[in-house]
Amino acid sequence: MAAAIETISKGPKITRHAWKDLGTHYKKVKEVHLRQLFADDPKRGVRMTAEALGLFLDYSKNRITTETVNLLLKLAEESRLRERIDAMFSGEKINITEKRAVLHTALRAPRGASIVVDGENVVPKVHAVLDRMADFANRVRSGEWKGHTGKRIRNVVNVGIGGSDLGPVMAYEALRHYADGTMTFRFVSNIDGTDFAETVRDFDPSETLFIISSKTFTTLETMTNAQTARAWSLAGLQGDEKSVAKHFVAVSTNTSEVAKFGIDTANMFEFWDWVGGRYSMSCAIGLSTMVAIGPDNFYSMLSGLHRMDEHFRTTPFEKNLPVLMGLLGVWYSDFFGAQTVAVLPYEQYLKRFPAYLQQLTMESNGKHMTLDGKRVAHDTGPIYWGEPGTNGQHSFYQLIHQGTRLIPCDFIAFSKPLNPLGRHHDMLIANVCAQTESLAFGKTSEQVTAEGIPEWLVPHRVFEGNRPSNTIFAERLTPEALGKLVALYEHSVFTQGVIWNIDSFDQWGVELGKALAQRIIPEIESKGEPKLAHDSSTNNLITYYRKSREIA
Ligand code: F6P
Repeated sequence: MAAAIETISKGPKITRHAWKDLGTHYKKVKEVHLRQLFADDPKRGVRMTAEALGLFLDYSKNRITTETVNLLLKLAEESRLRERIDAMFSGEKINITEKRAVLHTALRAPRGASIVVDGENVVPKVHAVLDRMADFANRVRSGEWKGHTGKRIRNVVNVGIGGSDLGPVMAYEALRHYADGTMTFRFVSNIDGTDFAETVRDFDPSETLFIISSKTFTTLETMTNAQTARAWSLAGLQGDEKSVAKHFVAVSTNTSEVAKFGIDTANMFEFWDWVGGRYSMSCAIGLSTMVAIGPDNFYSMLSGLHRMDEHFRTTPFEKNLPVLMGLLGVWYSDFFGAQTVAVLPYEQYLKRFPAYLQQLTMESNGKHMTLDGKRVAHDTGPIYWGEPGTNGQHSFYQLIHQGTRLIPCDFIAFSKPLNPLGRHHDMLIANVCAQTESLAFGKTSEQVTAEGIPEWLVPHRVFEGNRPSNTIFAERLTPEALGKLVALYEHSVFTQGVIWNIDSFDQWGVELGKALAQRIIPEIESKGEPKLAHDSSTNNLITYYRKSREIA
């Protein structure tokens, strides 16, 4: 909730007056209903919109006034957002806890641009890898790249987890309309053996290519699945080790681990430590995407990402889509105390977009320490969740409409469908408009009574409204539009990280669980009774599992 004035200690000390002013302002506007705000300003629904690069953002159904927006923009200025954007784009090591530059924007910079990291222009390296990816993708798609027995590749399996999985799955599902329909693309991530078993159940090893995607090439889940894939592939190809070169390629920053695994480094597609896992879908981690949709479509996606990067870098904050969305998120998290954000794509192809955003937003901004190692004085990253509309309407929307929690929503919609079928699309979009309208304006007890509802039922049928939402419209879900949408959220996350003064690019919170699992694996697998020295619950769970496994 609203905190007192606080300071940023990096660089010259500045006090963020806007934070305090927002706290005072919040008290004035927190009870004001959207009905009132719209009645007071008949043009609000047109005025509080912003459009850039074919993305139209309607933010009028938020619990804000012009003064709120001005104060949020002031907060961005006082947080030195402009300076921080420049620092990120120029390759400064803004990921301070890992001492790394944060340059996913370089992955989509045009050929000929110059971005220098540690004295080296990285753009030529980026394009050299993209060229190799395009050559490989063309060879697989055309059938020139053959499997060990001479058959063409029909199935592509990306093996990865986290950013090495969620971006590729999301992009494949989102752009399936553009994918080569003669090939099958699947994604294995979970260490649960079911994931692998079900993925390859109907595949022929002689037609199956595995892309092992891991920044570090040491991640437990990915390495375990990769070994299982290798064994499955070899078993189906007469155990001939030479087959590995035809059925396995790697995407990684770690050449030596790739070689140790037995993948020819000639079949490795490189990326670099300045690409964060959850920001990696536009580098070689996108290889499965490129094979699926072809290099031209992949380049269109990169162009969309780049155009949004440039919009973010150069557009004044009041018209800057990622900045506006990021600031609105801060307003709800820190002043209204909203705990979650629902992302509701009205586009079936975006069904994995909320899952993708969960890592992007929560691994980035789920932090409780400021850049200078002090506990934050306010809430940081909210919980992101969602489902495609209209399915969610028949499930959890009840809580958004009439529950006790405030849940800001992002509705995402497209003017033109990819699969025009009768009246489907008009009805889909009618639902977007209806949902945002009913969330904002609700239905009063007078309206309910006027409908002849018996008195005792009226309270149950009232919709309070005043539930905020953004609506984002694009023309059509193209590779370029997807790129813009992804970069929109990436930069909105960055904007929030700057306001919260946290490192949005590390993820130390996932390390402890990983380390403890490494300690528990040998205890679980030990032939003799292991000496357990955990807490009594963990000891008991391990013992219970060991025993019940034997009984089974
Ligand atoms: O879960 C932590 C994490 O490091 C993510 O940030 C990353 O995307 C994922 O693991 C996978 O890591 P890698 O690509 O190195 O296998």
